[in-house]
Amino acid sequence: MNDDRLIIFDTTLRDGEQSPGASMTKEEKIRIARALERMHVDVIEAGFPVASTGDFDAVRAVARSIKDSTVCGLSRALEKDIDRAGEALKEANSARIHTFIATSPIHMKMKLRMEPDQVVEQAVRAVKRARQYTDNIEFSAEDAGRSELDFLCRIVEQVIDAGATTINIPDTVGYNVPQQFGETIRNLIERVPNSDKAVFSVHCHNDLGLAVANSLSAVLNGARQVECTINGLGERAGNASLEEVVMTVKTRKDIFSCNVDHLDTREIVPTSKLVAGITGFAVQPNKAIVGANAFAHESGIHQDGVLKSRETYEIMSAEDVGWSANRMVLGKHSGRNAFRSRLKELGVEFASEDEVNDAFARFKDLADKKHEIFDEDLQALVTETGISA
Ligand code: KIV
Ligand code: ZN
Repeated sequence: MNDDRLIIFDTTLRDGEQSPGASMTKEEKIRIARALERMHVDVIEAGFPVASTGDFDAVRAVARSIKDSTVCGLSRALEKDIDRAGEALKEANSARIHTFIATSPIHMKMKLRMEPDQVVEQAVRAVKRARQYTDNIEFSAEDAGRSELDFLCRIVEQVIDAGATTINIPDTVGYNVPQQFGETIRNLIERVPNSDKAVFSVHCHNDLGLAVANSLSAVLNGARQVECTINGLGERAGNASLEEVVMTVKTRKDIFSCNVDHLDTREIVPTSKLVAGITGFAVQPNKAIVGANAFAHESGIHQDGVLKSRETYEIMSAEDVGWSANRMVLGKHSGRNAFRSRLKELGVEFASEDEVNDAFARFKDLADKKHEIFDEDLQALVTETGISA
């Protein structure tokens, strides 16, 4: 594998689907999986096959239709889950089984009611079982964000010995902060003696709004896979958003030593719209990268700057993430330059500066009464003023 590549593991179809009200049909999962494949996402987690017959069928259908990305199925560290995942993934071109067990004191004691030694044994057994189906095995230490480092080191070393090739460190309840989470990843990689035999991955939840920041801090400390979802969909406050992780790494090449050059980022906005349409979870207008206002400029100073050079107020291009162009919103804060330029796009040329002034004054009057001025409003204004079109 190219060491410089940041592996993008999308879990929209699994953790994203765990968002209350976001369940998807088999056909919808296939459509989203194809969009992710067009983006060249490395791994698509298609579902949790043991959860229901419907999820089993959906994972199998995605495994059959996807050729270029690896298709992954989730399983607890239980034989019946792993066998079900193995069966669902049988026809995949490239399959991964993802098995997990909780490692935090609170989860082991209150949820699993198991001793730490038993948890290690069960994790090792699960990884060995999964190897009957594929060599591509991911192990997750659920609630790693609240687990003890010594115990994490111990279980990680043993599951790597048993054959796990990806070690995923989830911040399951979104409790960590960036510096601390990054240190955990660095310590694990340094302290686990066989850490060079596996790719270290992170999976962050957004309960404190830190999922992307925590994921990126982990990358700066040696993680080489990030688990994320389109639009940040996921349990409770969601997961790290794919578009934000990817565009940060792509935009800040000066900071990151790994890259996402293999991804076609122009597929981001169409995929975001597809996921929003299917799940009915609308994207907030000011959401980074994929929100309707992410590349919209309203203030006159900003519009003037962008018209002179886009880099004055844009750190990436709208087209690069799949928007057809940046958007100048005409409203009461807009300046003459943006006003004139939009009219030019609409085929309106002014005969004199007086004509511009007159039309601009009428535009400002209108903008005081209306939030946003659309092309139709401008056309009407031009007709009223009798400007030559
Ligand atoms: O949040 C989590 O811990 C998970 C695991 C199953 C990876 O989703
Ligand atoms: Zn999760």
